[in-house]
Amino acid sequence: MGTTETDQSLRVLAEARGIGIGAAVAARPLRDEQAYRDLLAREFNMVTTENALKFGPLRPDRETFAFANADEIVDFALDHGMSVRGHTLLWHHMNPPWLKPGDFLRREWETILRDHIGTVVGRYRGKIAVWDVVNEAVRDRGDLRDSPWLSALGPDYIAMAFRLAHKADPDARLFYNDFNAEGMNPKSDAVYSLVKGLLADGVPIHGVGFQMHLASHHAPDSEDVAKNVARLNGLGLEVQITEIDVAIKGKPTEKDLQDQARIYGEMLQVCLAAKNATAFVMWGLTDGHSWIPHHRKGWGAALVFDGHYQPKPAYFALRDALD
Ligand code: G3I
Repeated sequence: MGTTETDQSLRVLAEARGIGIGAAVAARPLRDEQAYRDLLAREFNMVTTENALKFGPLRPDRETFAFANADEIVDFALDHGMSVRGHTLLWHHMNPPWLKPGDFLRREWETILRDHIGTVVGRYRGKIAVWDVVNEAVRDRGDLRDSPWLSALGPDYIAMAFRLAHKADPDARLFYNDFNAEGMNPKSDAVYSLVKGLLADGVPIHGVGFQMHLASHHAPDSEDVAKNVARLNGLGLEVQITEIDVAIKGKPTEKDLQDQARIYGEMLQVCLAAKNATAFVMWGLTDGHSWIPHHRKGWGAALVFDGHYQPKPAYFALRDALD
């Protein structure tokens, strides 16, 4: 069906196709902007906590769990019949200053890990359906990335985290999440080996998240992505697109917007064609709420709604793919 022949939302269309469609959400606009709340509930059936559940914001000191922002996001989602992806339990980045390698003995690190995952996953048991348990543990060349967890506990920290998360909520779907591992390349090979090894050891892992931070002139080949999704299916794992955005350099031209739309549409088509691809989540709601301009100078306009909450060609490409 053509783009103007339906006024159905992404949410309605995605539900008919049996795929989750989501956006990363921040507590502040959710609290302050009616237009943000309206658009989110109309177009999406899934939300990811963008920053609220990261170790740093959540644990400013060892005794504190600052759940207020995450609670608001989770409550909003559940009130509007949406499911929640919890992001993320362990990451090398955005950790609090008190969590420093060398400051604790190994036994204390194990206690910190157990308390953190048990408390956080336990609080949202039955409410957060999917967790990014470990985020970005692999480097582009395939070895493990340095992190406080790796230096304190060794490579086994990954298996420990999944086991603790499963214990805290046996029904939650547990994901390993990373970037630049969408197509077939040394990094996705390493992620494949990692998750295969975890499964062989009986570790409770259910899926792999493909972040998909792309650019309008640079995206993975969709056949390559399909191959990677298929090999993970061979292991019995789900795949979710967890953080897609397609950044544009400078002021977007009509061609940039069309290229961006094509990439969004193609990546969604890959998911729709694969039975183990269960969600397609964008990293933010509108171009006014995207991380890109704050972190990559001169880049932006990466999402499917512009800064005035208006749909862009990429929005219609998603709708066409779902239709
Ligand atoms: O909360 C503080 C606020 O108190 C302070 O006044 C302000 C001043 O700069 O900073 C605020 O923190 C910022 C935070 O976002 C919340 O807005 C941090 O500086 C900023 O670095 C942080 O950026 C986030 C980034 O991860 C780093 O954690 C982005 O919003 C978030 O979109 C981005 O998300 C990551 C995923 O988690 C993992 N994959 C890559 C993706 C993009 O980098």
